Amino acid sequence: MEAVLGLVVILLGLSHAPVSSVLLVSECLSQGERRVSCSSEGGDSPQYSWTLDGRTLTDAELLSVNNEDNIIILKQHVSGHLVCSVKNNVNSVSKEQKISACAPVTSVLMVSECQFLGQRRVSCSSEGGDSPQYSWTLDGRTLTDAELLSGNNETNNITLKQHISGHLVCSVRNNVSEVSKEQSICTCGE
Ligand SMILES: *[C@@H]1O[C@H](CO)[C@@H](O)[C@H](O)[C@H]1NC(C)=O
Ligand SMILES: *[C@@H]1O[C@H](CO)[C@@H](O)[C@H](O)[C@H]1NC(C)=O
Ligand SMILES: *[C@@H]1O[C@H](CO)[C@@H](O)[C@H](O)[C@H]1NC(C)=O
Repeated sequence: MEAVLGLVVILLGLSHAPVSSVLLVSECLSQGERRVSCSSEGGDSPQYSWTLDGRTLTDAELLSVNNEDNIIILKQHVSGHLVCSVKNNVNSVSKEQKISACAPVTSVLMVSECQFLGQRRVSCSSEGGDSPQYSWTLDGRTLTDAELLSGNNETNNITLKQHISGHLVCSVRNNVSEVSKEQSICTCGE
């Protein structure tokens, strides 16, 4: 009897595929919330669960939960060690990610200096934001290669060619915010 039962259990087990891998994807949204999705491969009837720093997520941390697509949206300022576990009758696999609060870009600093031969080096730096992206305009339009000796319209440091002047703006953006800084620059050495 026990042997038969054992065989049935084994056969049931074999008729199910194990969960083979788990993928966790997270991104910052515009209000500083974080969207995290969890997906798995290979398993039949996978069941998903989440923990943060080893305990169940609370309403104070969760803005919304989509159980159908296994997507959660964490409130602003939530950080910690997030784990998505996927289990079925065969096995259990989990994936973890250290998440930080989605910080906005808070301030931008632009420093410019003349270099020998009349070129101007300008550096733009930002504080506070994750994955900042830089862009430059001169007199309202994107900087062109004709004006640049080094860098391009998306690098944080640039060198302008001689005789370039005008209203220079460095904008720094990430998914949460955008901040810019402007400066009127004149031709170096005149
Ligand atoms: C910003 O949003 C894009 C597109 O949704 C996403 O691919 C990227 O991972 C996000 N960046 C951060 C830092 O979350
Ligand atoms: C930078 O310049 C390239 C080529 O002109 C353009 O495709 C891109 O959109 C520009 N990026 C920004 C942030 O303006
Ligand atoms: C840009 O310039 C600043 C200040 O000179 C420097 O600290 C930084 O490393 C430079 N960044 C890059 C990407 O070259």
